[in-house]
Amino acid sequence: MTPYEAIGGEHGLRSLVTRFYQLMDELPEAAACRAIHPADLGESAQKLFEYLSGWLGGPPLFVEKRGPPMLRRRHLHVAIATPEIDGWLLCFTRVLAP
Ligand code: HEM
Repeated sequence: MTPYEAIGGEHGLRSLVTRFYQLMDELPEAAACRAIHPADLGESAQKLFEYLSGWLGGPPLFVEKRGPPMLRRRHLHVAIATPEIDGWLLCFTRVLAP
């Protein structure tokens, strides 16, 4: 079984990513991280969904649609320091262990 299947396939991953960005929107501790994202988080959620799909052993949607991940390069346009990193990790940790 792939990690993708273990978290419930497309439906499970979609729920996880949706909840992740809901938390980023809601948690005061994630405000710095939220502030560097677009006003509408829909496209960010779609991109993370596509990326994690392939990374977890499911369909490689991100690579098919957008090319090589090059995640470091894709983050260079935003200023990411400790508060932004802590917020991101807090949201992801909460999603995995509510
Ligand atoms: C260290 C904390 C992180 C912060 C603060 C952060 C922040 C951001 C921001 C502000 C964007 C641009 C929003 C957008 O394109 O809609 C972005 C894009 C993205 N992030 Fe992160 N990110 C972090 C970690 C990660 C990690 C660990 C992953 C992968 C598991 C990831 C995957 C992505 C992807 C796939 C995109 C879309 C890239 C593109 O096509 O432009 N990020 N991130």
